[in-house]
Amino acid sequence: MENENKNKKFESELDFKSLLKDPLRLFGWSYIYIFVIIVALGVYYVKSINAVTSNATNPRITPISSKTEVPMAKGGLLPAVNLNVVSQPNPEMLEKGKELYTQNCASCHGDNGLGNGVAGATLNPAPRNFVNPVKWTNGNKFSDMYKTLQEGILTNGMAAYEYIPVADRFAIIHYVRTFGEYPELTDSELSDLDLIYNLTQETLKPNTIPVDLAIEKLTTEEMNEIQNISSALNTIAADQSLGAQLLKANSWSLTKVLYTFNKSGSNDFASYFNLVQAGAIDFGYRGSVLLLNEEEMKTMFDYLLNKNI
Ligand code: HEC
Repeated sequence: MENENKNKKFESELDFKSLLKDPLRLFGWSYIYIFVIIVALGVYYVKSINAVTSNATNPRITPISSKTEVPMAKGGLLPAVNLNVVSQPNPEMLEKGKELYTQNCASCHGDNGLGNGVAGATLNPAPRNFVNPVKWTNGNKFSDMYKTLQEGILTNGMAAYEYIPVADRFAIIHYVRTFGEYPELTDSELSDLDLIYNLTQETLKPNTIPVDLAIEKLTTEEMNEIQNISSALNTIAADQSLGAQLLKANSWSLTKVLYTFNKSGSNDFASYFNLVQAGAIDFGYRGSVLLLNEEEMKTMFDYLLNKNI
């Protein structure tokens, strides 16, 4: 009798119809499906982890778009000016101004300052017509024009002429002002200019080089160095001299040794090995380099020095 009961109970576990009548037991069965689904999702996730996670695409390097272009210019000491002298135009100064204007400005602003030079024909806005007193960007006061020459109006195609010596820039402006009617140059304007631009002090102007050219130069230098290092690696590999052997036996990265040796710029044995001793591994050496005697170190150093990378 008891046995029969047990059998009946077992049968009812498989009776799906009665399962439907008892939702709690249905839930008992469903966990198997949930388990299978979770495992399947897990497998899918691991297999396609790159597509699923948000790190799938490589980070983009944003191009630097707001680079200010720097002209190629030799630096030097810009002499201080005597404001009393440069603020009073005399025929000589106007002659100098005319000469500089013709050399530097007439191509755009025209021989007569009408803004009709051939080089400016396609510019928008057109080069300033110096006869016309309206709608100047910086303004037509003397100090405004000085600012224009100092900083340029780069977005509108007017370059900066800060490399022209201050006194010469004054001469150019005085000359330009002969083309039309201009507000008088006042003392307070002059002293403001002096405050802003330190006109009465000598100023040191550094050499400048355009950004692109600088990057190119650095890259070329780097490339040359890499080329030199790789050719040195070949010679060292084939070299059986004591220096080469010591170097090979005591370095984990010959490239790194050559590179750091080169960068250290050291041609003094003792100071170079002081550096190396402080961080042999960083210099590409094995720890064993610290066990070399002085003579062996010197041999190695001389060998590196003669490689002349
Ligand atoms: C490549 C052509 C070009 C050359 C060369 C050039 N300029 Fe200009 N210049 C311009 C253009 C374009 C403008 C108009 C800019 C604006 O309206 O904002 C301008 C505007 C000016 C202005 C008026 C700025 C204002 O406030 O509106 C002055 C002053 C000026 N130039 C002086 C000079 C002098 C002096 C030289 C020579 C040392 C010179 N420029 C050389 C193109 C040139």
